[in-house]
Amino acid sequence: MSELTEKNLAYAFAAESKAAVRNEAFARKAEAEGYIQIARLFRAISEAESVHARRYLQFMRGKIGSTEENLETAFNNEINANVNEYPKLIKDATDEGKESVAKAFSRSRDVESGHADLYKKAMNDMLAERETDYYVCQVCGFVAEDTPRDNCPVCGAVKGKFKKIA
Ligand SMILES: [Fe+2]
Ligand SMILES: [Fe+2]
Repeated sequence: MSELTEKNLAYAFAAESKAAVRNEAFARKAEAEGYIQIARLFRAISEAESVHARRYLQFMRGKIGSTEENLETAFNNEINANVNEYPKLIKDATDEGKESVAKAFSRSRDVESGHADLYKKAMNDMLAERETDYYVCQVCGFVAEDTPRDNCPVCGAVKGKFKKIA
């Protein structure tokens, strides 16, 4: 594939991924405002943008490997976010006195190392067929295994804020 096409696919992948998350956020806002049908529309389009993003990713060279490779990639991405990316963002937000932004970034940084641990465990368990449920904190993204916590260890959110992943 030409360099230009690679670049355009990467651009379209990023744009569609953002649109998917943005539309989901719009859907939640519409719900909160009582516009149930409009929420449904935003959610449907969000899903459609995800379809586009995944399609582009499949074209992009070396982006989706075997599950073993993908676990390794996902693990490295979490470590990179935890060690390299978030610390800089936290520092900038702190320097600019944006405390709540700095707090959101640092919670995410803390949560990423937990994500990395889960991937590491999955890499080790790959052949063991261990079954577990996952619960995601809807406030900070902390992922709990087996049972939701009474309080999120990262942000303190109550049990009801955990969403079970099917
Ligand atoms: Fe993560
Ligand atoms: Fe949390």
